[in-house]
Amino acid sequence: MTSVGSKLQMDLGSSSEVLDGCYDPYTAEVQELIDEHPGMFYLMDPASVLAVRQLDLGGRLRIWDMCAAPGGKTLLMLENKEPETYVLATDMSRPRVERLKQVIHQYFAPLSEHPEVSVRSADAVNWGYRNQEKYDAILLDAPCSSERHVMGDPKAMSNWKPNRAKTLPKRQYALLCSAALACERGGQILYSTCSINPDENDSVIARYLKKKTDLVVRPLAPSVGKPTEHGTLVLPHECEGWGPMYFALLEKVEGT
Ligand SMILES: C[S@@+](CC[C@H](N)C(=O)[O-])C[C@H]1O[C@@H](n2cnc3c(N)ncnc32)[C@H](O)[C@@H]1O
Repeated sequence: MTSVGSKLQMDLGSSSEVLDGCYDPYTAEVQELIDEHPGMFYLMDPASVLAVRQLDLGGRLRIWDMCAAPGGKTLLMLENKEPETYVLATDMSRPRVERLKQVIHQYFAPLSEHPEVSVRSADAVNWGYRNQEKYDAILLDAPCSSERHVMGDPKAMSNWKPNRAKTLPKRQYALLCSAALACERGGQILYSTCSINPDENDSVIARYLKKKTDLVVRPLAPSVGKPTEHGTLVLPHECEGWGPMYFALLEKVEGT
């Protein structure tokens, strides 16, 4: 299932609302609005919305969206941040950064009208090492095996290689180390993937917690999903087709 978020203030019946401010595009009234306002609605999995909402943006001054393209979760943070809060959205892939810019332009506002929003092509692993303790809210929506996407896309399936399951946790761990460095004390990091593989989810967090003491896991109580050792897992067969989506919230504390 996909949901609809919009910069339009909509007055829709609660029957089509799947989450606060998110609407089911398959209902007639939402479909009508989409037809009336093409380009005003961004379709995304409600589990992605749920994940981003675990990050407390209240009073945050500097947000970093590490792996941001194509930008659904960036849009959600732009909609919910305080007006003066600075947001940096990075992605390693240049073509995807171009897509991210288009998405922000189309669904939020032209970047020229928002000097507090910056989009850059960058390797987030290096960026964190070079920008230590600069951000007080970080979204690490990590590259992952994305099993649902792979199964539904013949091209992705033909490109799939078994060793991805081994290399991805290493990349995810490197990204988490970078996030930890870039995070200020008292700041939060939301780690998320759309994988069902525990090696890409709880194990990445567990590996970090075993080595370092500067991050602690904050408990979550989302409306949907099952608790795991460190986070929450939303599975399609348990949650009306939402997900898969794993997320865990970490806070930077004193420690080494
Ligand atoms: C799961 S997708 C992100 C989806 C995005 N957050 C959204 O909501 O639309 C993962 C992204 O990570 C990017 N990526 C992979 N490795 C990266 C790195 N080292 N630094 C920055 N971006 C990276 C990929 O190019 C890809 O766009």
